[in-house]
Amino acid sequence: MDEKIKLSIDGKTYEFPVIVGSENEKAIDISKLRSETSFITLDPGFGNTGACSSAITYIDGDKGILRYRGIPVEQVAEHSTFVETAYLLVHGNLPAKEQLRAYSASFTKHAKLHKDMKNFFAGYPTTGHPMAILSAMVCSLSAYYPELVKPEPTPEEIDESAVQLLSKVRTIAAYSYKKSIGEHFVEPNDDLAYIPNFLNMMFSKPGKPYKIDDDVVKALMVLLILHADHEQNCSTSTVRLVGSSWANLFASVSAGICALWGPLHGGANQEVVEMLEEMKKEGGNIKKFIDKAKDPDSNYRLMGFGHRVYKNYDPRAKIIKEQAHKLLTKLGIHDPLLDIAAKLEEAVLKDDYFAQRKLYPNVDFYSGLIYKAIGIPTNMFPVMFAIGRMPGWIAHWKEMKADPKTKIGRPRQIYIGPTMQDYVPVEKRK
Ligand code: CMC
Repeated sequence: MDEKIKLSIDGKTYEFPVIVGSENEKAIDISKLRSETSFITLDPGFGNTGACSSAITYIDGDKGILRYRGIPVEQVAEHSTFVETAYLLVHGNLPAKEQLRAYSASFTKHAKLHKDMKNFFAGYPTTGHPMAILSAMVCSLSAYYPELVKPEPTPEEIDESAVQLLSKVRTIAAYSYKKSIGEHFVEPNDDLAYIPNFLNMMFSKPGKPYKIDDDVVKALMVLLILHADHEQNCSTSTVRLVGSSWANLFASVSAGICALWGPLHGGANQEVVEMLEEMKKEGGNIKKFIDKAKDPDSNYRLMGFGHRVYKNYDPRAKIIKEQAHKLLTKLGIHDPLLDIAAKLEEAVLKDDYFAQRKLYPNVDFYSGLIYKAIGIPTNMFPVMFAIGRMPGWIAHWKEMKADPKTKIGRPRQIYIGPTMQDYVPVEKRK
């Protein structure tokens, strides 16, 4: 018999169905709670609220487990490519050889921006944050591909928009960087694979082609794979919420980019490196920063630590830390920020304040040091996160569209404002 949960209110008992996930996660389905009892649930920050059922990513935050479509992220990072991971997330299974070849080829085909779109870049100030440009440009794709933005697109149209987005996001990101340093755009190169093509658009200059280094490509690949999905985080929930009103994929993802930009979410990778720079300026006095983060009267936080879901070491941070050491050694870079980061991590892991709250390094703690070693400027770090998260956003939007249970997202509230009062004309107000 299906399990039910009983709730007793004012002597009357109500029953609510229990939903069980494939990893035995349990939820109480309270969708009828209000109509049957007139109560709603209150859960600020949705810390304990499931908004959907999803078959994309599994996380066990207590054990530090992350799996894409059932495959441990450690295996994906070691053996897969970013393009293959995107296929896995968006289509639900690993592609056969010919499917993978065709998928890669479709990214090559769609990498160029519409020539009119390039004009937009000219209008932005060089100091404009690249996340502002990225979100505006991604939303603008809706204007250039009207055939893909119907309220009820076909599966083929969804796949076409997805490929357009996954491919063009690199070009938009690289152009926003070139604009910020006042250099000419470098066109996508059809002979290059996904990541080399991006690096070439970022770093090639007229008469000075960028030399592709396989270790740099591998490090960036691992980073993008590790960022590819993380179930119902702030930006992905935003994409689903916006999409639930039948807004198109480009508009929904553009909103997700804005949500990601915040320093508590994807903007944290930029903040981490800025925090480490500050610590360096202070002669490596990390104690001062730790004390400030522990001070109950201060809002200051150690960036790159803590996570809503992980109450154990973030499995992504473990891999990224290794990659950072490997890449910096290979490139012969001695970055004093890596030493400060290691010292900070050691001090935090020994500190009771952080231990009691189960605060560990997260995905953003070491990633910036890899981007920095590659030559990517600090304000582009959240853009790199956005490129990585693109397959996840698309997969969730697609899943949300296909789910017959999807309804427009519309939380309730508990009103705490004034009760009924009469309007007072301006001349009678005190
Ligand atoms: N430094 C100092 N104290 C912290 C930190 C931190 N980084 N993170 C959480 N705390 C404290 C917080 O003050 C609270 O203490 P108390 O119980 O005494 O009030 C307790 O730990 C629980 O924090 P919370 O704010 O209730 O936790 P949350 O789940 O709402 O927030 C978080 C999660 C990631 C926003 C938060 O840990 C944070 O602000 N971290 C720093 C920013 C950061 O690194 N963000 C990247 C997250 S990983 C990438 C991604 O997916 O976005």
